[in-house]
Amino acid sequence: MKFGVIGAGQMGGGIAQVAAQSGFTVVVQDVKQEFLARGQTVMEKSLTKLHEKGRLEGTPAEVMGRIQFTTSLQDMAECDLVVEAIVENEAVKADLFRQLGQIVKPGGILASNTSSIPITSLATASGRPERFIGMHFMNPVPLMQLVEVIRGHQTSDETARIVTETAQQMGKTPLPCNDFPGFVSNRILMPMLNEAIQCVMEGVAEPEAIDGIMKLGMNHPMGPLTLADFIGLDTCLAIMEVLHRGLGDDKYRPSPLLRKMVQAGQLGRKSGQGFYTY
Ligand code: NAI
Repeated sequence: MKFGVIGAGQMGGGIAQVAAQSGFTVVVQDVKQEFLARGQTVMEKSLTKLHEKGRLEGTPAEVMGRIQFTTSLQDMAECDLVVEAIVENEAVKADLFRQLGQIVKPGGILASNTSSIPITSLATASGRPERFIGMHFMNPVPLMQLVEVIRGHQTSDETARIVTETAQQMGKTPLPCNDFPGFVSNRILMPMLNEAIQCVMEGVAEPEAIDGIMKLGMNHPMGPLTLADFIGLDTCLAIMEVLHRGLGDDKYRPSPLLRKMVQAGQLGRKSGQGFYTY
């Protein structure tokens, strides 16, 4: 299997790394060399840690040797499966899939790691809706078990089978769902994170207390504000907007504080500042 990944950020880098760990040949594309270099550094650190803990088959260098980095989309032509993990923006993703639909060989499957954007509309843009699917990994990809597999309106049984098997070969547990705003994971998770942000805005409690209450009281491994910072506040806002637009109900309205922090460039861990300083 030749595996393609578009976007070398938090998610794309993780997906590429795990695909290479599973023995696949991987091509990773991003728009700038510096983004590829940053992704490569993160992967090398992660692989070294796994190696030290005895949880890596082979050496980090062997795994990295299976990954090709490129700024040219044309290098996706021979891939059997291409997973997209770029910015959570429908127009930008649709434009990318329009191009990939022309570039990737006819039998190749296209998948999106989107958190919330309708799979069916991206599938239409790709021009190969039967061979299109949502393959939603969790962050951090090397450590998290789940892959949410989202069937679009026209996704074929064969595409769903191949993607499910590929996720299993990557050591993950794929679980199926259908194409509704936010799918299952973010429809349930994101309103909780948004509510925690609203609690900060209203002065219900300090961020540390909100996170502590949810960790100790609900047995969550991570508080909601820590998790929002980890996901990226820009991504959280984009998902809330999709939920609000797609489901209509007022309970999905993004918190004004979330909007303000994104406008201020406070995106969480990746920008160094969110509800906490990194
Ligand atoms: P990120 O901001 O860390 O990385 C995005 C990468 O895509 C950047 O390196 C950027 O240069 C690149 N990119 C942007 N436009 C591009 C284009 N046209 N062509 C090629 N590369 C392009 O974002 P992150 O967190 O990795 O998210 C990516 C996707 O994964 C989003 O759709 C997000 O909703 C989804 N996702 C995010 C999760 C999270 O916890 N952050 C969890 C699961 C899914």
